Amino acid sequence: MHSLIDAFSWAKTNEMMGRIGSRLSYSKTVPLLIWLISAFIFFALFRMALRNSSDTISSSSFDSPVSNVDRRSKLYEKMARDLDEHGPAFLKHGETSQSLSLSDIFTLKDGSVTPVLKPANPPVRANVLYLSTEFSVPIAEKAKNIFNPYFDKAIWFQNNSVYHFSLFHASHHISPVPATKQEIEAEAAAVQAVVGTLCPLNIVLDRVILTSTGVLLGCWQVASGTDPITIRAKLRNVLPRAPEKQQYDAAIIHTSFARLLGPPKASPTQIYNTSDQLQFFHELVNRLNSQIRGYKAVVSELWYVEEYDVLALALNGRMNVHKFKLGCSTTRG
Ligand SMILES: *[C@@H]1O[C@H](CO)[C@@H](O)[C@H](O)[C@H]1NC(C)=O
Ligand SMILES: *[C@@H]1O[C@H](CO)[C@@H](O)[C@H](O)[C@H]1NC(C)=O
Repeated sequence: MHSLIDAFSWAKTNEMMGRIGSRLSYSKTVPLLIWLISAFIFFALFRMALRNSSDTISSSSFDSPVSNVDRRSKLYEKMARDLDEHGPAFLKHGETSQSLSLSDIFTLKDGSVTPVLKPANPPVRANVLYLSTEFSVPIAEKAKNIFNPYFDKAIWFQNNSVYHFSLFHASHHISPVPATKQEIEAEAAAVQAVVGTLCPLNIVLDRVILTSTGVLLGCWQVASGTDPITIRAKLRNVLPRAPEKQQYDAAIIHTSFARLLGPPKASPTQIYNTSDQLQFFHELVNRLNSQIRGYKAVVSELWYVEEYDVLALALNGRMNVHKFKLGCSTTRG
């Protein structure tokens, strides 16, 4: 039944088309054909133009501030969950040590926490952005005020003269890339040339987080200036021998403020179990966040650092610092 109706309407349509066709004279068909062809060409060109413009959009999204900001937000959210997901792993050391829970990089000497420096062989070669004391000192003071009363000697504060954002390693202790003195000079010169093209970064503290390993981190957003993704790509370009696998997400821009080394020594309420401890850590981090979230800073130096001790920048180890000023003027950035 259904197919009968279909066949009927099909025949009917054919009949109508035939009638229209016969009514079209030759003189009318040629202009119509020309019109159809030009319409087709126009449509094809239009499609190509559309495709080109969408290509431009997707390739420039690599540098698009909005997607980089988004990528960082997601990354920081994930990092903020680390403590709850993995628990305070830094407390585990405490169970094996009598006085102070110390990871293998700290010891207690004359009543104060002292880093155990290990020579890096070959020296680590790190590129970091530097945060000047104009911005680091106020942060360090607030972090100390909040954490010192509870952690006493079970905490190590980052030296506020060398607050830094790790960007890219030419060599690190996990994948060492030995280099001669001349090669190091050439690397430093190549980095300097790149730094001349970078614009100072206006950054905003997105949030403070505590990792499961006890590191108190400041995670930042970039309001303007050369994005860390671009900086890392440019450094990779001029440091072709650098380890393929780098330690950080290309979008991240973070500073370490302190490392917790053990359980809190004193707290307003007694702490009996891990969930109480977690709650207490979150409280302290929230307190710091409420004071410094949204803090604005300007980054205008990149350092190429030869670290002669493992984690020299973090532990006041031996190092040789090559300091370069970001070269592009802020107005252009
Ligand atoms: C902090 O870093 C500065 C610059 O590297 C250095 O002069 C100073 O001695 C360091 N402070 C400590 C306590 O090591
Ligand atoms: C931890 O201790 C508190 C009391 O301080 C208690 O309310 C809570 O249920 C305990 N949590 C666990 C997981 O034992």
